Amino acid sequence: MSKQYPFFTSPYFSTFRLTQNIIMKVLLFLLAPLFTLVVSAQQIPTDYLTADFHKGRRDAFRAEMPANSVAVLFSNPVRNRANDVDYIYHQDPDFHYLTGYNEPHAVLLIFSSPQTTPDGNTYNELIFVQERNARAEQWNGRRLGVAGTIATLGFESAYNGSEFAALDINFKSFDKVMFYNFNNDIRDTREGADLFDLVKSFKNKIGFPSNYNASRMQVYALIQSAPVEETDKIMTLLDRYAKMDPSLIEDPFIKDFIAAAKSGTDQKILDRAKTAVNVALNQYNFDLEGLDRIMNGLRETKLPEEMALLRKAIEVSAVGQLEVMKAMHPGMSETEVQGVHEYVYKKYGAEYEGYPSIVGGGNNGCILHYIENNKPELGEDLVLMDLGAEYHGYTADVTRTIPANGVFSPEQKAIYEIVYNAQEAGIAASVVGAPFSAPGAAASKVVAQGLISLGLIKEASEARKYFPHGTSHYLGLDVHDKGTYGPFKANTVITVEPGIYIPEGSDCDPKWWGIAVRIEDDILISDQGPVLLSYMAPRSVAAIEAAMKLPSPLDAFSLPTLE
Ligand code: GLY
Ligand code: MN
Ligand code: MN
Repeated sequence: MSKQYPFFTSPYFSTFRLTQNIIMKVLLFLLAPLFTLVVSAQQIPTDYLTADFHKGRRDAFRAEMPANSVAVLFSNPVRNRANDVDYIYHQDPDFHYLTGYNEPHAVLLIFSSPQTTPDGNTYNELIFVQERNARAEQWNGRRLGVAGTIATLGFESAYNGSEFAALDINFKSFDKVMFYNFNNDIRDTREGADLFDLVKSFKNKIGFPSNYNASRMQVYALIQSAPVEETDKIMTLLDRYAKMDPSLIEDPFIKDFIAAAKSGTDQKILDRAKTAVNVALNQYNFDLEGLDRIMNGLRETKLPEEMALLRKAIEVSAVGQLEVMKAMHPGMSETEVQGVHEYVYKKYGAEYEGYPSIVGGGNNGCILHYIENNKPELGEDLVLMDLGAEYHGYTADVTRTIPANGVFSPEQKAIYEIVYNAQEAGIAASVVGAPFSAPGAAASKVVAQGLISLGLIKEASEARKYFPHGTSHYLGLDVHDKGTYGPFKANTVITVEPGIYIPEGSDCDPKWWGIAVRIEDDILISDQGPVLLSYMAPRSVAAIEAAMKLPSPLDAFSLPTLE
């Protein structure tokens, strides 16, 4: 296999790096067992995704790249919370998927085909990582550094971030330079080669204009590639872009396109718009859509190694729901429910919540993403609990709705049964080849029929009033994971999560007010049919009421009362 060395602006640097790399490789070969020992002496879990997995994903990514292209991905920025305290760092899921590197201030380059240095060496990927620094590591935690990245993440070579600025690659020579738009607020820190500096260097290298308007370019690309018959579709998309950036409608080329579309497609005006956007687009070789397109395709279906982690995230979240059911009593607070769930998944080694926990008693449950979780006593409430743990990067998304006193009232039960039946219909529709909308269509039908039969609505079209959200999304490294939203493929994981929410003051009998029910499960789409991954969380009315009668270890847990 060919060695992989990039070349740098200074010839000294290039030769120096070459020698340094050879020495590093020999040293690493000799010291590899020691490195493994040191790592295992830290007693970290052993079930992370492997270096082979991440390398395989980079190869799969490369296979999807356009000819003569380079993809550049950055690690997530560090987010400041206050003063010298930052939010817990979380890696960008694409970066994690492709590298396994979970520290900030890093950049990955993947090339569609091998590149050759002046020394005749070839490489097809490069990673620049945080430099080791004993003092910084004493305060803020261990760093893998170049040696650790090569030894544990399977890169042929790796470089310190400080070397990125001197990397001499002619980005203009590629047909496409793929990267995500720079939307993030990235702070410059005191350390050299932080993410701020890496991004700045990259922008310089590719000649990124400070006034580059990515959404205008996206609309241009749509206009350029659209066949005449899709003019209407583009007008709809344009509407969406214009909501984010109204100045787009004032752009002369886009104005031309709109005029052509409104005139029933005046071919002359349309051609003029197409020629104009072509010229604008050809000024740059930037591709801001390619990364999403490739990552959506790769991340939609899960490999067995990913399924092992995702299953664990889901199972520990489901067990957490069961433990909450056992521990629940009317004196409990929303925050305490969250805490019980968190304790359970942490006991299984899950690191974080995969999204902010939602625990809404009564009317609070009607707020779809309610995260205050600050009601002190749940009393007789129906409690909506949308809780998902993240295990080694993969997140669950499981919702249960239970009566705080252990028994559903007749009204709570009536609404619950509709949602349950809707979910059953949605799960049954989650089969290979079905359109992504199939579970939603099936569930919505049952919800509408149910609401009509209870007299809450008169026609099916009114059902959205009480069921205002979608039924399914992909699940994986992100709670709303990446995917193509095309027909279902085997080895895809989705949620099926119908709900009915009747806020206080709704236009119906007040006996329904404050009832909010969502039931959300995680479903593996497989050639053998849908598989309920979150089966460990009781789901039917009978199963929930039975679980709530079980003793909980927390029954005996008491703390001193504070004055
Ligand atoms: N927990 C967010 C959602 O269900 O999509
Ligand atoms: Mn969900
Ligand atoms: Mn959820």
